[in-house]
Amino acid sequence: MLSAGPKKYSNLPEKYPERPEIKNIDPGKLVNMLLSAFADEILAYYMYLIAGYALRGHVSKELEGVFNEIGKDELEDHAKKLADRLQDFDVDPPDFRDVWELSKCKYPELPDDAFNVDEWLLASVNAEKCALSHYREIFEYVFGKDPVTEEIIEDIIKDEAEHETIFRMLLSKEGVKKL
Ligand SMILES: [Fe+2]
Ligand SMILES: [Fe+2]
Repeated sequence: MLSAGPKKYSNLPEKYPERPEIKNIDPGKLVNMLLSAFADEILAYYMYLIAGYALRGHVSKELEGVFNEIGKDELEDHAKKLADRLQDFDVDPPDFRDVWELSKCKYPELPDDAFNVDEWLLASVNAEKCALSHYREIFEYVFGKDPVTEEIIEDIIKDEAEHETIFRMLLSKEGVKKL
């Protein structure tokens, strides 16, 4: 559960604007959830940026392309959609120093071995799995009560499911056994 919410973000409006499209929703709780998801996306983008640079070996160029492509989804599509929805509540993106704390998924421990492609892919599968369960929680909170956020979360969930599959399909036979 996300009930505790983020601890550090202080730049919230005194009063949230009235949103006629929402019903039976606590805007403060929703904003906390959206901020946390936004922070997740920024860190997912950053993790994939690091992965793209870190990987070595004969498939590293191809994988860099995959990581860059997926990272672009996290930053330019998902984080953007969440930030736009936050602005409907007069909330801007958080200070970068608060991002780690706001994030629920953060990112998994990154592998030491830049040649161990499977380890990087497994970390990415786990990152996507965390994103999926986080969005599932948000979806359950807004379902039937906030159609705008619901649609955004639904779109993002579709993408995260696709990302998880892309990373999983790239695993070697040995990597699959570690799932
Ligand atoms: Fe994402
Ligand atoms: Fe993703």
